[in-house]
Amino acid sequence: MKILVLGSGAREHAIITALLREQPRPSVVCAPGNVGIAAEVAVVTLDPNDPVAVTDYAVLNSIELVVIGPEAPLVAGVADALRARAIAVFGPDRAAAALEGSKTFAKRIMDEAGVPTGRAVRAGSLAETEAALDEFGAPYVVKADGLAAGKGVLVTSDHAAALAHATFWLEHGSVLIEEFLDGQEISLFLLSDGHSVLPLSPAQDYKRALDHDAGPNTGGMGAYSPLPWLDARFGSENEFVDEIIETVALPTIRQLAAEGTPFVGLLYCGLILTDAGIRVIEFNARFGDPETQVVLPRLITPLSGLLLAAATGVLGGLPRPEFSADVAVTVVVASENYPETPLVGREITGLDGALRVPGVTIAHAATAARGDTIVSTGGRVLSVVAVGASFLEARARAYEALRQVSLAGSHYRTDIAARVA
Ligand code: AMP
Ligand code: GLY
Repeated sequence: MKILVLGSGAREHAIITALLREQPRPSVVCAPGNVGIAAEVAVVTLDPNDPVAVTDYAVLNSIELVVIGPEAPLVAGVADALRARAIAVFGPDRAAAALEGSKTFAKRIMDEAGVPTGRAVRAGSLAETEAALDEFGAPYVVKADGLAAGKGVLVTSDHAAALAHATFWLEHGSVLIEEFLDGQEISLFLLSDGHSVLPLSPAQDYKRALDHDAGPNTGGMGAYSPLPWLDARFGSENEFVDEIIETVALPTIRQLAAEGTPFVGLLYCGLILTDAGIRVIEFNARFGDPETQVVLPRLITPLSGLLLAAATGVLGGLPRPEFSADVAVTVVVASENYPETPLVGREITGLDGALRVPGVTIAHAATAARGDTIVSTGGRVLSVVAVGASFLEARARAYEALRQVSLAGSHYRTDIAARVA
């Protein structure tokens, strides 16, 4: 099978690594990729957000499946353009991708479908914001109503900071003030063909920049999978997943289909397990980063078959994907000053030494070649991934590998998966 993967981050690198593990090996190209991806597959210089360029490339090169990694091509209508030319694509049309891009749309779908989520009020002015903050009380949750690259959400007990955040985002549109939900966060990915879903194994992401969940929200600083503490509450991972399928995923997918906007791709359920039960905090319309880096290394079922089945509407006939009993941990290496204004263009060394640690792979996120060296090009630079028989082992491997890597000024969290080891 000939597959085109769109994107250039660690998520796409992890998707490609999973595809290349299959027997027989699919033929994979990536646009635009990064230096780590280019070491494994051909990369093409192509704007992944340009529907015409992507479609023309896919037709000319007999691509049988396009896998869209990030949200930007979805919002740009790349999946719509590919479907219009009868090319199989894993990723929703623009209208269904609004589940991620518009929090107001997502809330409406959840309301119609009866999906459990926090109460939220939309505010279009500062006066409305103040009233909503008073109604919900501290801690305050203020969200920009649109794609904000992980920077749109502020959770704070500081009333003035909540107002300042709202003031900034009100200039770009409206904001949502939400009820604060307290509990463990869970990311559950489900493949969807528009009508049925198949679950992957759950993961937990670390969103704050610093150890012990201090510092600002980021795109994600690390993750682990599976979540052993689910057993105490639900009996087993399978029982937890069954509940999410019944109460969250299928109602959402059915609502979207009923509205004429079927969701074909990856339904990312961002959940909080509160004392009162599961609540959805957000949906994304794509694989999560860095959770993908810990979910896919554990996947035994060939990924390409699952993605193609979703893209061609035949997921319903397939058994649930199988996962290894091994566990996985990933730790993100971030540039100096991430998430504010990351300092980039610095040399990265020690990757070969890191890769000699057993069970370790490295997913490149923001890297490029400069002569014979590799340099950083963005905020989240690398995802160091380690698998092991236990979290103790996987964590030890990940942090041993991290000690080999050097990038001036960079930082990473030291407590990823500590709570389960
Ligand atoms: P979002 O972009 O909506 O996923 O929000 C980013 C992060 O902010 C989440 O992963 C949570 O850690 C936190 N967050 C979002 N909404 C809430 C909420 N209603 N209550 C508590 N924390 C939240
Ligand atoms: N890890 C959070 C996200 O992918 O949105």
